[in-house]
Amino acid sequence: MENSVIILDFGSQYTQLIARRVRECNVYSEIVPYNISCRELLNKKPKAIIFSGGPSSLSKKNVPLCDKKITQLGIPILGICYGMQLLARFNQGKVSASPIREYGKASLQTRKKDGLFANLSSNLIVWMSHTDKVSKLPLGFEAIAFTQNSSIAAFKNKEKKLYGVQFHPEVVHTPKGKKIIHNFLYKIADCKKNWTMKSVIKHSISSIRKQVADKKVICALSGGVDSSVLAILLHKAIGHQLHCIFVNNGLLRKDEGEKVVKTFKTHYNINLKYIRAEKRFLKRLKGIIDPEKKRKIIGHEFIQVFQEEAKKIGPVNFLAQGTLYPDVIESYSAHSGKSGPSATIKSHHNVGGLPKKMKLTLIEPFRNLFKDEVREIGITLNLPQEIIWRHPFPGPGLAIRIIGSVSPERIKILQAADTIVIEEIKKAGFYKKTWQAFAVLLPIKSVGVMGDARTYENVIALRAVTSLDGMTADWVKLPYDLLGKISNRIINQVKGVNRIVYDISSKPPSTIEWE
Ligand code: XMP
Repeated sequence: MENSVIILDFGSQYTQLIARRVRECNVYSEIVPYNISCRELLNKKPKAIIFSGGPSSLSKKNVPLCDKKITQLGIPILGICYGMQLLARFNQGKVSASPIREYGKASLQTRKKDGLFANLSSNLIVWMSHTDKVSKLPLGFEAIAFTQNSSIAAFKNKEKKLYGVQFHPEVVHTPKGKKIIHNFLYKIADCKKNWTMKSVIKHSISSIRKQVADKKVICALSGGVDSSVLAILLHKAIGHQLHCIFVNNGLLRKDEGEKVVKTFKTHYNINLKYIRAEKRFLKRLKGIIDPEKKRKIIGHEFIQVFQEEAKKIGPVNFLAQGTLYPDVIESYSAHSGKSGPSATIKSHHNVGGLPKKMKLTLIEPFRNLFKDEVREIGITLNLPQEIIWRHPFPGPGLAIRIIGSVSPERIKILQAADTIVIEEIKKAGFYKKTWQAFAVLLPIKSVGVMGDARTYENVIALRAVTSLDGMTADWVKLPYDLLGKISNRIINQVKGVNRIVYDISSKPPSTIEWE
């Protein structure tokens, strides 16, 4: 795409953040592996290039190096941390290993008030995370900033359009980092401000129309933010050629099915098949305790139901999916390695198995987007706030929140408790502040006393976590008042529960869901 910024990924844990910051400055950015060929790169018509940081040390052998020719194209390059050191190496500068790792906040003094540091104060707080540093300026370069530990904390070669910073402008701990990236894009690389969700919507709609022509598209609607925005976007593009299928597996939140029908069918007039398959799923789950077995059964049954229903629609050519950019990058990123996924902790079922079996062509309009951008599209398309900010909900639903075997009675108890948790968390203003909040029904009973009588009833665990992407998480320090209120309401209003506990474990070593 013209006017894009290509980010070479040398394995930094922050590479995705760089891409997001660039897009927040309204310029399209794409992450590519560091060893992309010069020709492939040029095909992408970049207006600027960024070299990410990375965990490697140039003092070692077999480190990731990009094609040196890329640095000689005359396209502006910003090297961050390892990326800066690489620019130094390519231009006869010297990079040395420092005995101590510099990690955390540092005070940066700038020498220049133009270019990268235009309109910024000469003293900036920046975030450092490195061991090696540039110890001798490369030929024709000028040091433009320094810290206590490094006389070359940023450099430039204006003629060659090469710039480097030892710190990480992409992280929030560098408060003026976004401005520095902004300066690189607009003051140095002359980028145009043309990446907005309005333009993305316009472009997506016209390319969906072109691809689909007069054929039919099916889409599995889950009620979550990605599939909801996807359905609305496709509906806008191709109207009733879109056929959504929403499967009620009996493991949804209370009244979820009816809510989805009301929003999408009644309000948006989308072609929606609401499939009541509760009995089928529950029958197959009867007596199953092993979480992975539950996942497999639910995943398999979902595909069955979906295929049956899709057949009834008639000849269909396309399947729309809400695949996001992080899923795409994960498959080649330098730090995750190409050698395959790490140990399977939980097999997350999604509709990924569908296209192969059904021979459908995929339509994935969000393949290049981050979740925040999908939300923004939803906002631009006037989707209800409730959908846009909805917490993630696992495909196997309440089945993996009912520890032990799943039965209609236990689902009813958990749905009632879960409704109270969400209501109270929302009322207290904690819903947007948490990544997920929910109730878990435990497979043990505890003794209680109600009136003068002894009770022997179920225990519910509450879980509320903060997280950025679900990969790591921390438990939320919910106020005692709120915990007390939730506990009181559940014990008083949900028949069959006499005790509430709060889960105070982080991920890792725990996981977000209990199963
Ligand atoms: P864990 O429990 O692995 O969860 O820490 C991380 C995120 O993934 C969700 N999750 C699932 N999502 N199918 C899904 O679609 C699944 O089987 C599944 N298991 C966990 C979980 O809710 C959290 O957001």
